[in-house]
Amino acid sequence: MSTQADPAQPAEAAGPVRGRVDQAVVTAPHAATAGPVALTTAGLTLGFGTRTILSDVCVDVRRGAVTALIGPTGSGKTTLLRTFNRMNDRVSGYHRKGDVLLDGRSIWHPGVEVMELRRRIGMLFQRPNPFPMSIMENVVAGARAHRLVGKAGMKDVAEKHLTAVGLWGAVKDRLKDSPFRLSGGQQQLLCLARALAVTPEVLLLDEPTSSLDPAATQAIEELVRTLVPDITVIIVTHNLAQALRVADRTIFLNQGRMVENGETRQLFEHPAEEETAHYVAGRFG
Ligand SMILES: Nc1ncnc2c1ncn2[C@@H]1O[C@H](COP(=O)(O)OP(=O)(O)OP(=O)(O)O)[C@@H](O)[C@H]1O
Ligand SMILES: [Mg+2]
Repeated sequence: MSTQADPAQPAEAAGPVRGRVDQAVVTAPHAATAGPVALTTAGLTLGFGTRTILSDVCVDVRRGAVTALIGPTGSGKTTLLRTFNRMNDRVSGYHRKGDVLLDGRSIWHPGVEVMELRRRIGMLFQRPNPFPMSIMENVVAGARAHRLVGKAGMKDVAEKHLTAVGLWGAVKDRLKDSPFRLSGGQQQLLCLARALAVTPEVLLLDEPTSSLDPAATQAIEELVRTLVPDITVIIVTHNLAQALRVADRTIFLNQGRMVENGETRQLFEHPAEEETAHYVAGRFG
């Protein structure tokens, strides 16, 4: 896969590139657009207290594809991601109607254990959040908690996943060191290694590169493309050029409503909805 940073757009990693979509380097294969569905929201309406944040969201997320979730600030992107692994359940005032199905089964089905759900649906946050333990312990923390690895297998699991994210060379001699001495980009890759070590089926990435420089952004984007089709990826981004580079499909959310969900290039170049056309042209948001 070949996601290339656009040298003409050095500021991309810092924020959206609105109105310049035509200049973006389109290198995502935009494949895997047909096929089975991993996650479905059915009439999902939710809010906190008297506020409604998501309104009747009906969306299918294709298995084995990268899906970008775009929309103006406050449109509910993070809330939707957090809902997918039930992180809102205990927020005070949270209320919900409708459903989310993983492989056709409600994530709120009484037979679903939250811990196992979060193993199957992993999440990476905007800011890297290594745990206060060694680099190696960070990588295997989730895998240990889920009893996927014993003490003896820790080093092998750490090596495998640090290699997968391209960090092994940089950290192999400092596995017992604190992760907080790593650069921001390296910390994010470490968190990605930790997320991958529990073998998730779906990975939720909430603006994973927004605090990273262009080189670290490119590393994460390239890595994301290597995860599919084994893992279904949903990436929230304000960077429209990034959505074009990495995402097979894109969902546009505005004011808690799902406006459009389609093949990325189609959505950017021939949007079905006027609202989408305005957003991708940088005319609002
Ligand atoms: N726990 C909460 N209690 C009350 N309101 C909340 C809570 N979490 C989110 N909201 C509100 O829900 C709305 C959507 O927030 P959300 O974080 O999902 O937006 P977003 O699309 O991710 O925005 P951004 O692009 O700025 O990250 C906002 O108005 C926010 O204030
Ligand atoms: Mg957000």
